[in-house]
Amino acid sequence: MERTFSIIKPDAVKAGKAGAITQHLVDGGLRPVAVKMVHLTQKEAEGFYYVHKARPFFGDLVAFMTSGPCIVQVLEGENAIARNRELMGATDSKKAAAGTIRQKFGIDIEKNAVHGSDAPDTAKYEIGFFFSGAELARLGVTIG
Ligand code: CMP
Repeated sequence: MERTFSIIKPDAVKAGKAGAITQHLVDGGLRPVAVKMVHLTQKEAEGFYYVHKARPFFGDLVAFMTSGPCIVQVLEGENAIARNRELMGATDSKKAAAGTIRQKFGIDIEKNAVHGSDAPDTAKYEIGFFFSGAELARLGVTIG
């Protein structure tokens, strides 16, 4: 069993697709074990995406991610990190394979419906960015 971190982005939340996306994740073998809705501030979005700080799209990415509420969640399942990335599809919704979340629910490379951690250390960092140890413990999600 592994855990990963997922965001249902503002475009998908606004379009009322959060339920369908969650169903897709669950059908794909990933169980949400901690979930909340958050409206990111500019500083939070900049902090979360700090690895992309030098990229030309950084400003637009931060503006988009603060444009409305997101759903942040911890997903659990076998090979959860890789599985989630498979279910999401390629970053650019226009190039994502048929049947993937980004192809079905995203619009383009920026408004791509979902984010998912790309490796175990990123998953740990991203889960910790949004969920405290106390919150996870209250939900029975053991850490360590
Ligand atoms: P995500 O998986 O959340 O990780 C970083 C995000 O930056 C990515 O999804 C896209 O939404 C966005 N992104 C990545 N590359 C580009 C790009 N070339 N132009 C615009 N946005 C991008």
